[in-house]
Amino acid sequence: MALNDSENLEYWGRLIRPLVRRRYSLLSSSGGPVNLFTTTSDLVMLLLLYILTGPDFAEKHSKEVVPMMQPYARLRKHECYVLGRRISPTGRLLDGVERRMKMLIEEEVAFRLKNMERFRHNRDYLQIVLNRVGGKFVAGICPIDSSLIHTAYPGHIVGLLDQGHANQTTTFAWSLVHAIRSPLLSALRQPGSKDLLEATLHETGRLYSNLMLVRGTTRSQTILGKDIPKGAYIACSPLITGRDPDIFPEANKFRPQRWMTPEQKLDEARLKNAQRSGTWNQFGKGQFACVGVKLARLILLDTLWSTILGNDAQPGFDVQIVSGIKEGTGIDDVGVEAKWSEAYLGTPFEKGDPVMVRFKLKSAS
Ligand code: HEM
Repeated sequence: MALNDSENLEYWGRLIRPLVRRRYSLLSSSGGPVNLFTTTSDLVMLLLLYILTGPDFAEKHSKEVVPMMQPYARLRKHECYVLGRRISPTGRLLDGVERRMKMLIEEEVAFRLKNMERFRHNRDYLQIVLNRVGGKFVAGICPIDSSLIHTAYPGHIVGLLDQGHANQTTTFAWSLVHAIRSPLLSALRQPGSKDLLEATLHETGRLYSNLMLVRGTTRSQTILGKDIPKGAYIACSPLITGRDPDIFPEANKFRPQRWMTPEQKLDEARLKNAQRSGTWNQFGKGQFACVGVKLARLILLDTLWSTILGNDAQPGFDVQIVSGIKEGTGIDDVGVEAKWSEAYLGTPFEKGDPVMVRFKLKSAS
């Protein structure tokens, strides 16, 4: 799939890293504290727009699309399934956002199809898909790389913006808060900390994961001695599994080191085993597992985190928490509680006062 192609990922990395550096530099020079979760959310949405729809579309529409899509992620989408879209206020809001996005993307697709030669060599995801389907407007089911893109372009792009946005925002924000509130950030700033950073992502995914994953059974079956009829819905909770002390000693502690070998390397065997047995489920499992894992690693590790940490050529950023901490609360007393399930079922946002932070460009060493 285009999202996993290594050349595309490399190109997108080169495209978005300067945007992140510019944004953090601006925040550093403005000096004012900003809300960590909403600032991250805006930035992640902008990066996704660049990748999925290209720089021109992103530049032209981000001022409208970023604020419009941000609350979209937090809406209680599940209540619409019960009430129906038209009669639930959330449903009407969702409809409004989707209608507008549909209009913008359809306009863009129509324009590109009329000017195919001009756009053919662009490397954004939308153009890659357009090229693969031979420059046709596709409204309906579209087979690409043996998987089905089951809605026309607007629905598909909105789906990716939505799925890729909230989980990335919250995963990055939680990992940063834990790192700042412990000796972890200093350890991550040491040379050769790549494996520890990776372990931090896994540990964040263990503790801040989807509240539940749901599957509908396609045939009757017996699971752990219970007869489950065809068509029933079964939910499993990565959150509960991830906190099981029989599986993870000191389960409520944020310890990236649990994913490391005694030689301080990423423990690939442990990770593989946890994935296979379903005890670590950050990106889901099976047929409907996350399609954006590689893109998430590019954005979270190789872009956001690597900009914070800096390198020999470019200094990183200090991030100071100014307010929003309530001592003695949250996982491992991090000082911020997660808002499980109240808004949506994915990786949670923060509960209560916003976490306000100040970015400060480090001086070149
Ligand atoms: C830290 C970042 C991310 C996390 C934790 C995450 C997590 C998940 C999870 C748990 C699922 C459900 C899997 C299941 O039901 O088994 C999922 C599905 C999905 N994710 Fe992600 N995701 C992340 C980033 C992304 C990105 C960057 C994209 C693409 C832009 C993306 C696109 C999708 C899509 C399209 C699905 C639905 C797959 C399907 O139903 O076939 N995700 N993700």
